[in-house]
Amino acid sequence: MFPPVPIIVRKTMKEITLPSGTTLPNNTGIIIFVWGVNRDPTYWGPNANSFDPDRFLTTNSNLLASFSLGPRNCVGYQFAFIVIKVALATILRRYKVVGEREDSDVPKINSTFSIMLRDRDGYEISLEKR
Ligand SMILES: *[C@@H]1O[C@H](CO)[C@@H](O)[C@H](O)[C@H]1NC(C)=O
Ligand SMILES: *[C@@H]1O[C@H](CO)[C@@H](O)[C@H](O)[C@H]1NC(C)=O
Repeated sequence: MFPPVPIIVRKTMKEITLPSGTTLPNNTGIIIFVWGVNRDPTYWGPNANSFDPDRFLTTNSNLLASFSLGPRNCVGYQFAFIVIKVALATILRRYKVVGEREDSDVPKINSTFSIMLRDRDGYEISLEKR
């Protein structure tokens, strides 16, 4: 939901017609808004802005653009997923992670963007021993 790199820049290598019908000529610079792709209700359903990890039980996670997509995706993609799984398994075996109380399932985390996306005001969590 909060991709560290919220926009990526690419150049077309041939003429491309988008699903909208717009045609991009070869050699056109394009900006892909990863934040928007990851929250597009077309792909993620009406609750696209909600924190709902269970969506990956029914939605194709290959649509997630956080590590970019295609042949020039992030070289750290697979390494990042291994690190995430090991870190989560290690933490969740011993602790329950508790965030700030939210009044809805849409996270209210203010973010700021300068090269990388980051939280602006912090987001406190606490660990409760299991
Ligand atoms: C697209 O443009 C590049 C750079 O001008 C060129 O090398 C390439 O052959 C073009 N591709 C096609 C499919 O025309
Ligand atoms: C987000 O920013 C708004 C406006 O500056 C502020 O009112 C709100 O408390 C901030 N939310 C958090 C979670 O820090």
